[in-house]
Amino acid sequence: MRQVGFGARSNGVGMKILLVGGGGREHALAWALARSASRPVLLAAPGNPGIAEHADCHALAATDVAGLVALARAESVDLVVPGPEAPLVAGLADACQAAGLACCGPGAAAAQLEGSKSFTKEIATAAGIPTARYESVETEAAALACLRRFGAPVVVKADGLAAGKGVVVAATLAEAEAAVFAMLRDRSLGAAGQRLVIEECLTGPEASLFALCDGENAVLLGVAQDHKRAGEGDTGPNTGGMGAYTPVPVMPPALTELAMARIVRPALAEMARRGMPFRGILFAGLMLTEAGPKLIEFNVRLGDPEAQALLPLLDADLPDLLHRAATARVAGLAPRMRPGASVAVVVAARGYPAAPATGFNIGDLEPARATGALVFQAGTVRAADGGLRSAGGRVLTLCGTGADLAAARGVAYAGVSALRFPGGFWRRDIAARVA
Ligand code: AMP
Ligand code: GLY
Repeated sequence: MRQVGFGARSNGVGMKILLVGGGGREHALAWALARSASRPVLLAAPGNPGIAEHADCHALAATDVAGLVALARAESVDLVVPGPEAPLVAGLADACQAAGLACCGPGAAAAQLEGSKSFTKEIATAAGIPTARYESVETEAAALACLRRFGAPVVVKADGLAAGKGVVVAATLAEAEAAVFAMLRDRSLGAAGQRLVIEECLTGPEASLFALCDGENAVLLGVAQDHKRAGEGDTGPNTGGMGAYTPVPVMPPALTELAMARIVRPALAEMARRGMPFRGILFAGLMLTEAGPKLIEFNVRLGDPEAQALLPLLDADLPDLLHRAATARVAGLAPRMRPGASVAVVVAARGYPAAPATGFNIGDLEPARATGALVFQAGTVRAADGGLRSAGGRVLTLCGTGADLAAARGVAYAGVSALRFPGGFWRRDIAARVA
């Protein structure tokens, strides 16, 4: 049996790692893995032109579980690192385990923490985690009766994965009822909306907490703030995220530790008790209410673009951290973030999120890099002439680091200004309120 125990091969070359995904988060992961002094050998599937600067890219879909496991076995990889949730929900970690491969992500049962809101609520209730009061309903009659009991404002959520369209924060009962009819009667979200979670409306600032988990133990990676709306001043449609920053002033260390103690660790213990241990990165979406931090949702992976903001500040060996999470050796770790701040600004294609136009020329990225910004690629392809073209909604993330949020913001936007990408747009107010 090959010795993979402590994160480095005996010949002095680092681990062989298969990174799954092809977005901005995965480019940031590839960049951070490649920086390791242990010099890991990186493979990616499917990757993108940015990831290809660090990894050997293979044309496999991120959800091709059988293909990914076959590749990992054929290449004798030491660690599989899934970036997005879809492969995890599809059972990639289970298939890796069956094949004897270390994988830094939860099995499909534990990935329900992202895949099903009623499951998450059930876990939160069983573990005594502070969260909005809720009921889970499957019929119109039950939903309408529940709305009357809750009163407005109230939140109506599709149970399943709905690409950011599954949550309606309703100011009036009429609005809430319309959401119920759309999801249950008109099946506007398909199967994802055939069960609903109706919950009390909370208020307060939001923050995203990321914890590295090995099934038993959890340690903090960092906290970031996302900007979800497409337009400046938090207007326009919801997106995957238009920018992020860290640290988050409304989430000082003591509050972060409270969230680890009251939310992350109880969830981990409850999942282990149920025989579905959570390994990988647990993303807790929090609302900082007057009564303390409350859980809004869990995701089972790093955020995008939160990862692009967090990873450049990580002062720890990422291959080792992820391998430890995959092999139950997180206890006692305390990954550090470098002092200072980081701001990530997403540059999206015009039309995002509804109908992003593709095929725009993206000029040379060197002038942006020369400003000191990191340029992470997401929806890009390499054209036959060697140039980059846009190929998706979110195209690039420009990240700046600095002594404080203002300095980091300055670097990120200097990078954006140096881009030659006329088909793109971005928010000019990322981190503006805190810098
Ligand atoms: P989710 O998909 O669960 O993260 O919800 C998307 C967004 O809806 C969150 O980021 C919040 O801004 C909002 N939201 C979700 N649940 C609540 C709640 N119980 N009260 C107020 N806002 C909420
Ligand atoms: N930026 C939020 C997410 O990754 O889900």
